[in-house]
Amino acid sequence: MRRTLIVGNWKMNGDRAALAELGGIATAAAACPAIDVAICPPATLIAAATGSGIAIGGQDCHAAARGAHTGCLSAGMLVEAGAALCIVGHSERRCDQHETDADVRAKAIAAMAAGMIAIVCVGETEAERDAGDAVAVVAAQIDGSVPDDATPDALVVAYEPVWAIGTGRVPSIADVAEMHGAIRTRLSAKLGAAAAGGVRILYGGSMNGANAAALLAVADVDGGLVGGASLTAAAFVPIIEAAQAVG
Ligand code: 13P
Repeated sequence: MRRTLIVGNWKMNGDRAALAELGGIATAAAACPAIDVAICPPATLIAAATGSGIAIGGQDCHAAARGAHTGCLSAGMLVEAGAALCIVGHSERRCDQHETDADVRAKAIAAMAAGMIAIVCVGETEAERDAGDAVAVVAAQIDGSVPDDATPDALVVAYEPVWAIGTGRVPSIADVAEMHGAIRTRLSAKLGAAAAGGVRILYGGSMNGANAAALLAVADVDGGLVGGASLTAAAFVPIIEAAQAVG
C-alpha cells in the first residue's frame, strides 16, 4: 500500500544544462510504473524542470506565506513554479541555517497547506550514534518536526544519518531496520497506527546503484532520498531500477 518513492536531491548543484539529465531519468521512471520518482533541483530550475515527466520538488520553504524575508521562498511560490513536493529539515539546513525542530515543523505545515508533500528529514550525528543515542535523537526529531495532523498523502519522512551523507558510508542493514521500525513506531504514537502505516519512510545517505537494492529491501524502507547519485541519469537510473525490482 506504500508506493516506493525515489527522490533525488540536487542540493546546490545543477544548471540549465543539467536538466538534460531529466530525460533519461523520466524514461526510466516511465518504465518502472510501480514506483514514484521525483527530483528536487535548485529552486531556480523548478519551473524549467516541470514538463520533464517526473515530479519536481523544492529543497526548502519558508514557514510564512509572504512577507519581509529577503532571499526566502514560500511554499506557495514553489507550487506556482511547479513543485509537488518539498524537502524540509535537511540536516544541512539544520546545521548551516540552525533550523530547529519547531522551524522544520512550521515549514512542513506550510508545505502541506500549499498542497505539497512534505519530506521531513531526520537523522543522528556520528557522535550521537557512537553514544548509543541514535534512536532517541531521531524519535525526538520526529516528535518535534512532524505536524500532529499530518496525513500519509502529504507526509514523507526521510531518515538520513548525518555521518552517511556524502561520505560513502552507510549504516548496517540491521541498524537501518532498527531505525525505520523505530520511526514507524514513533509515528504511530503521534499520528495513530492507521496513518503511520501509510507514511513512506525513505533512507538517505550515500545510496547508490550498488547498495540500493539491499537498502530498499529492508522492512519499513519505502524509498530513498539520494544526493550525489541523483545528479546524472547514469547514476540515478540504476537506483530507480533497483527500486522497481524490489517492488
Ligand atoms: P548523498 O546521497 O550524496 O549522501 O546525500 C544524501 C542526502 O543528503 C540527500 O538529501
